[in-house]
Amino acid sequence: MDGVQSVEVARAETERGEVVLRRRTTGAGADVLELRVNGVFVMDTLETTSEIELAAQALALVEEPAAVLVGGLGLGYTLQRVLADPRVQRAVVVEIEQALVEWMRDGTVPHGPALLADARASVVNADIAMAIAEARTHYDLVLLDVDNGPGYLVHQANEAVYEPQFLHRCRDVLRDGGVLVVWSANPAPDLLAAMRDVFGDAEEQAHDVLLQDRPEQYFLYLARR
Ligand SMILES: C[S@@+](CC[C@H](N)C(=O)[O-])C[C@H]1O[C@@H](n2cnc3c(N)ncnc32)[C@H](O)[C@@H]1O
Repeated sequence: MDGVQSVEVARAETERGEVVLRRRTTGAGADVLELRVNGVFVMDTLETTSEIELAAQALALVEEPAAVLVGGLGLGYTLQRVLADPRVQRAVVVEIEQALVEWMRDGTVPHGPALLADARASVVNADIAMAIAEARTHYDLVLLDVDNGPGYLVHQANEAVYEPQFLHRCRDVLRDGGVLVVWSANPAPDLLAAMRDVFGDAEEQAHDVLLQDRPEQYFLYLARR
């Protein structure tokens, strides 16, 4: 992008590749943090509508969303929206990259420390596939945003997260009436069909977003147990 300054803020090398935080300054002079994994843009702090809607849409569907499981901490916008709801008593976030959790805790991501200081929030450093497979408690909401979606994976291993076996397991960890929402950067008809098979019904929502002044859409897939 012409004229846009971008500097590296933090970097970690993991067994899955590199995780990088960069800061850029918009034309209006605002600082924006950007998360990149293996060279792929994952998200930034400028356009967070769909990360917030991932939580908001689910919260609106359940009367008492006391316990919430979030897959993928990222820069914390889904978690922030979950914790903004006073009905939520417990929010468990599963994040595979320990370095990112540390950047959120130590203020490398400036809004991180206050967010993670909320006594209702806990962060588990694990693969969501493992965490869901081993879950012993039930949740009112399961919110998944661990990759760019089934058509545009950052980590090939995350393919499983969009498949029927895993979706069945998500249904198992939901209380009756509980809701699963899955985020995707692109339309995901196979995911919608798999969720309809597993849950009996499922809904696709398209959300308008602005990516560096370019209008785009991101997608949410919702199903209720
Ligand atoms: C797009 S970001 C999540 C954004 C988040 N919704 C927010 O509001 O900031 C995806 C996150 O999922 C994490 N992740 C990727 N694969 C994962 C997995 N299998 N299990 C848990 N976390 C994973 C990434 O490290 C990254 O932090």
